[in-house]
Order: sequence, then structure tokens, then C-alpha cells
Amino acid sequence: MKLNYYRRDWTLYLQDCPCDLHFVQYLESRQVSDKLIFHFGTGEHHLVGKTNYERGNPNEILAVTLSRGEYDAYIDFVIANPAAANYYKVFFADIYTLSSRMLPSFDIATLFHLCEYYDDREYRDDEDYSEFEKSGEPHLNSAYARLDDAGVLELFLGKLNPGGKLLFFKGSSMWEWKPEKVVKAAISRGRLVVEDEYESLLICGLAS
Ligand SMILES: C[S@@+](CC[C@H](N)C(=O)[O-])C[C@H]1O[C@@H](n2cnc3c(N)ncnc32)[C@H](O)[C@@H]1O
Repeated sequence: MKLNYYRRDWTLYLQDCPCDLHFVQYLESRQVSDKLIFHFGTGEHHLVGKTNYERGNPNEILAVTLSRGEYDAYIDFVIANPAAANYYKVFFADIYTLSSRMLPSFDIATLFHLCEYYDDREYRDDEDYSEFEKSGEPHLNSAYARLDDAGVLELFLGKLNPGGKLLFFKGSSMWEWKPEKVVKAAISRGRLVVEDEYESLLICGLAS
């Protein structure tokens, strides 16, 4: 059994994946400051953390990556810019292995890649996989992780401060197939309400 780690170092592809850019624009346009933010999926570019630093660190960000290269890029960034580490922390983890006790409460959590990478079946034929990996054992979160996608959503619903927000990426290639359904299910259960939209992002709050 292997961790379903992320095989790429994701550079910015704004045409296909503008969520991080839209998020930093959202934070700036709404003048969001003094918030603790959880960010799912740093990319190798670390746009969210680096932009926060360039803007004078208005917020504190804890971000997760499951890519060795993206984590290395973070290490290089904070070695060169140690003051940035006060406001931008990245950890290497499979989001499906997190628990409530391991996390603080957040004001904002981005779940942009919910339902994109759980159990890697859909992606076995694309360029992310070497011939060795295609022929090898599948990497299944379900074989080892305590959470699935609904569990991740439930975890972060439980980690939101009053007035906190969960952000989703409507431009995800998976959106209609799965994340939208998971979000709609949480809305029907009376857990979540849609508050706003910004470009490709759906902004939700806790239902009262
Ligand atoms: C397509 S990239 C997008 C990166 C960035 N958010 C962007 O839009 O440019 C997907 C991101 O999700 C992270 N990722 C994938 N599966 C993950 C998992 N199970 N737990 C934590 N992070 C994961 C990857 O490391 C990567 O940073």
C-alpha cells in the first residue's frame, strides 16, 4: 500500500485552474485581514502564501500539499524569506488523514480540490503517471485514510469560527460530477449556506 501522494509539482495554469488567483483577488477585493486561513493545495507556485507576504501579511495561512516538489519549493521559499514563515506554514499531508484534534479553528478554509484526488482511479491514464505506476498498485486513500470527501467537508465545517467561510472551486473539472453534489448535500442537511460568489469561487457559510 502506498500513500496516494501527488505526483506532480503544479505550476500555475490559469486557464484550467484559476482558483488560487481568484482567491488572492477575492481576499484583496474584500480587504480580508487578520484571518486564519486553511488552504487545500499550495501548488509549486505558492501563490496564496507568497501574495500574502508581498501584501504585508494581512492574514495567517496554514496550507497543505501532498507533493514532495511543492513542499521542497516551500522550504526553499522560507529559507530565502524567513519572515514569511511567521504568516505562511505549509505541511505535507494527505488531507484525508487529518483529524479535528490536529487542527485549529479557521476563519476561512479553501476546499478547492475536494473530490479531485480521492482514490486515484480517474487519472491512471494521464501523463501524471509513469508506465511503472500505471502497471503498479493503485494508490487508494480509502485503504488507509480516516476520511473521505464528505468527511473532509464535515471536518472543516466543524473547524470554522463563527462567521467563518468555506470556499469551493466551481471551475474544477470534477465540479458537477462530485464536489457540487457533496456541497449541495451539506446545504440540504442544513449545515451550509451559499453566501456569495467570486469569479470561479463559491463562498459558503455555516447555516445558523
Ligand atoms: C491541481 S493542483 C492545484 C494547486 C493550486 N491550488 C492551484 O490551483 O494552482 C492540486 C493541489 O492539491 C494538492 N493535493 C492533491 N491531493 C491532495 C491530498 N489528498 N491532500 C492534500 N493535498 C493534496 C496537490 O499537492 C496540489 O497542490
